Amino acid sequence: MSRRAPTIRDVAVLAGVSVATASNVVNGNRPVGEESRWRVTSAISALGYRPNRLASALRARSSRLIGMVVPDITNVFFAGLIHGIEEHAAESGYDLVLVSSGEDEATERRRIEALIDRQIDGLLVVPTTDASILPLREGRRASLMPPTVLLDRGFGAPGFDTVGAECAAGAYAATQHLIELGHRDIAVLGHSIHQANISARIEGYRRALDEASLGARARLCVAGHGLDSLRGAIDQELYRADRPTAIFALTNVAALAAIKAVRALGLDIPGDISVLGFDDFDWMCALRPYLTTVAQPVEEFASCSWRLLMQRISGVAELPEIRIELPCTLKVRESTGPARVRIRAVAGT
Ligand code: RIB
Repeated sequence: MSRRAPTIRDVAVLAGVSVATASNVVNGNRPVGEESRWRVTSAISALGYRPNRLASALRARSSRLIGMVVPDITNVFFAGLIHGIEEHAAESGYDLVLVSSGEDEATERRRIEALIDRQIDGLLVVPTTDASILPLREGRRASLMPPTVLLDRGFGAPGFDTVGAECAAGAYAATQHLIELGHRDIAVLGHSIHQANISARIEGYRRALDEASLGARARLCVAGHGLDSLRGAIDQELYRADRPTAIFALTNVAALAAIKAVRALGLDIPGDISVLGFDDFDWMCALRPYLTTVAQPVEEFASCSWRLLMQRISGVAELPEIRIELPCTLKVRESTGPARVRIRAVAGT
């Protein structure tokens, strides 16, 4: 017959202390004298006692768990966000339960519901699309939703606190930089026009072109999220006789796709084609030319969203949704340079 698991009462009896004292040692709720602490920890070891976290969570109405959903845990941008959130969670005595939606709305919804079933205290989500999480705020499910903050995407979603970046302003500054270098044919490469943060980057690009009377020369290359899809889209642009003199890549993956495509054609960066990215990570300064890019404030994303979530969990629930939009920084490095003047063949000469 299997032995029943030891309880906190068994620990107290063996240690010769009250159940309250033994519980204080396990949960750290109140200070305990060294002698009693030693007796309780010795009894725990002797019995192989393991606290029932779910039971204590139900009693305390807090699991000390935070759920986090990202679209792709292999993407260095989301990995940076996760790292920042994990640091705040550890400082605050929470554990992070991390899931990936794989950029799929049905998977996202299923995994959020699974997290809710595990009594998480709060939820941080980079949604698959700007509207993918809205149904969880409707009907019966609305009452089940824990305090939730959306990061990066879904900016301004009704009913949610959101933390985003000033993507349009970042893209505007980047495009202006290329125009000031003499570029007139700038291709923009991104994975979607249906995500607010990407469409905002395209809007910033278009605004800078329009102000320079270049709006008619906008070149949009839109593909899927994956490197191969983005690479195929920019390849088509590079094979044109009137290929662009600059590529503005709207994400870290798009920047990688652009660099690979230009290099595969044996073209020089920035001599033949300038490349400007979005997002900033170590690999962008690992190989020459170092990448000029728009850096998003990943650490501030993590600290602002964590602070917002803790406010909600602690009951600052009366406030209407809070929207935080963080400034980006254009980091000018080596991959952007003066536009190479292309001599257009003139018919009949
Ligand atoms: O692939 C990561 C990119 O998409 C980042 O720019 C981030 O904003 C995400 O939405």
